[in-house]
Amino acid sequence: MHVVKVSLGDRSYDIEIGITLEQAGERLKGLDIGKKIALVTNPTIKKLYGQRVVDSLKASGFLVMSIEIPDGEQHKTLDWANSIYTALLINSFDRKSVLIALGGGVLGDLTGFAAATFMRGVPFIQIPTTLLAMVDSSVGGKTGVNHPMGKNMIGAFYQPKKVLMDLNALKTLPKEEFLAGMAEVIKYGVIRDADLFDYLDKNREKILALDPGALSHIIRRSCEIKAEVVSKDEYEGGLRAILNFGHTVGHAVETVVNYTMRHGHAVAIGMVYASRLAFRTGLCDASAPERVEKLIKSYDLPVSFSALSRKPSATELMDTMQIDKKAEDGKVKFVLPKKIGEAVITREWDEGVLREVLEK
Ligand SMILES: NC(=O)c1ccc[n+]([C@@H]2O[C@H](COP(=O)([O-])OP(=O)(O)OC[C@H]3O[C@@H](n4cnc5c(N)ncnc54)[C@H](O)[C@@H]3O)[C@@H](O)[C@H]2O)c1
Repeated sequence: MHVVKVSLGDRSYDIEIGITLEQAGERLKGLDIGKKIALVTNPTIKKLYGQRVVDSLKASGFLVMSIEIPDGEQHKTLDWANSIYTALLINSFDRKSVLIALGGGVLGDLTGFAAATFMRGVPFIQIPTTLLAMVDSSVGGKTGVNHPMGKNMIGAFYQPKKVLMDLNALKTLPKEEFLAGMAEVIKYGVIRDADLFDYLDKNREKILALDPGALSHIIRRSCEIKAEVVSKDEYEGGLRAILNFGHTVGHAVETVVNYTMRHGHAVAIGMVYASRLAFRTGLCDASAPERVEKLIKSYDLPVSFSALSRKPSATELMDTMQIDKKAEDGKVKFVLPKKIGEAVITREWDEGVLREVLEK
């Protein structure tokens, strides 16, 4: 097992990578939390892993209630958060009672939000079961739900007390979901770690075969990078925005296709276009966008708008970016690579150049 620490003063916590679900109960024993636990999951994950977690928690003396949310992003809503509150109230949960999210990013975001807001905050544990949730959404404390007018528009920063990862869970994850998570792993390589980028290039077969050593390495490095960034800038006042590499164009893509595309796929396309913008802005040499595109392609991820059901115009994408949350003070911030392993957050880019890049 590898432990990665997220250092946030009295809100610090451990990410335990490589436990088994059977150990979940004992891994929570030392924490200052109550005995009552609500395990929030969906029918898909409950069938695969629910019982193992429930048994483990009970064996460690916890009282466990399960709450089931239907599978899918469309259930990451205030209505479903409300259904969690109702179940907790009916069962007399109090301020020390614990919420555990067992599942992907949808359940993690929803359950975290419910934990942040129920009785002004109750202890919260993440047990991520998708690659995306392991390397990204379970770490860092962004929780939230969608609003009909926008994704993740209602939310709170709320850190978990612990994150537990059983990498064996990835064996049942559909390949497409795994690859979508790989887009975020590639992101960490580009913005912060050239060695990770090389590792992803040289160990593709092992990673795709879910080799335990390879998985453990890339998940650990991703968590270390996210933990380091979040520890320095929890509320995204500055540095944390670096994690949005690929997300500016990515979010615009998701919006124009009405969220019919996986987030990781949209981010993959966004990373390619951001890297080209970096080159055209004079920040990096031509090899950076080429290498980014090649690596993304090698993981069977999309690299251009031709992967979309219809090709959006540059104007449409740029208008959408403008209303994105990241367009503070009128100009969109881009995260642009200076080289593989180093990126900057900048508003210094030219509209005409971006238009050309998006139209190419
Ligand atoms: N909070 C953050 O910082 C953050 C960061 C990135 C993304 N997100 C959010 O994460 C969400 C996407 O998360 P996701 O990609 O994990 O999607 P998801 O939670 O919808 O999971 C994808 C699918 O895989 C299934 N699944 C999960 N684990 C499985 C397993 N081990 N075996 C078989 N099937 C399994 C799920 O039931 C679901 O059908 C989005 O809502 C996004 O906004 C949040």
